[in-house]
Amino acid sequence: MLRTVVAAFWAMLPAYVPNNAAVLFGGGPTIDGGRTLGGRRLLGDGKTWRGTAAGILSGTLLALVLNRLAPRIEGRLGCTLPRFSPRAALALPAGAMLGDIAASFLKRRTGRQRGAMVPGLDQLDFVAGALWVASTAAPRWFARTFTRRTVAAVLVMTPALHVGTNVVAYLVGLKDEPW
Ligand code: CTP
Ligand code: MG
Repeated sequence: MLRTVVAAFWAMLPAYVPNNAAVLFGGGPTIDGGRTLGGRRLLGDGKTWRGTAAGILSGTLLALVLNRLAPRIEGRLGCTLPRFSPRAALALPAGAMLGDIAASFLKRRTGRQRGAMVPGLDQLDFVAGALWVASTAAPRWFARTFTRRTVAAVLVMTPALHVGTNVVAYLVGLKDEPW
């Protein structure tokens, strides 16, 4: 049980970090360039090229760092940790950003302003994106790493972690809303 949660957390770290990197480094030109669809913004001001690039880059770098740290940490914890193939290292953060962008697209279509809270969607959009892109781009790695138990652990653990980090980001003034 604990081993599953630790392995799931480790495997998802490259998908968790991009959101936080985007908050830290976001800004500059928006992805939609101000374009609208049916009178509403395509994605909104909260999706920028810089934030997206920073998210993907940070997640990929983290995956490579985790691969180097894994042997030592495995020794201490006495459990095995997943390694990231090059494709997985890129797919997880890219998928996380894509899922977040897709969610913004849907939020704008349903008339929600930037920053509007959508419980469930806000916490799982990037998980769905990361798992989907990783399973498509690195299917063998995905099948090895994400068993049903691991996916179940991810779905339970992620919303709690996401809410927690966003509240912290809000309290220290990095985010405009605590979600
Ligand atoms: N961000 C970014 N580029 C991204 C994702 C996030 O620049 N691809 C930055 C933006 O500054 C954004 C902040 O991170 O405001 C928080 O991200 P998020 O909560 O996803 O955006 P919101 O501002 O809440 O906008 P939305 O309603 O579209 O989710
Ligand atoms: Mg938001």
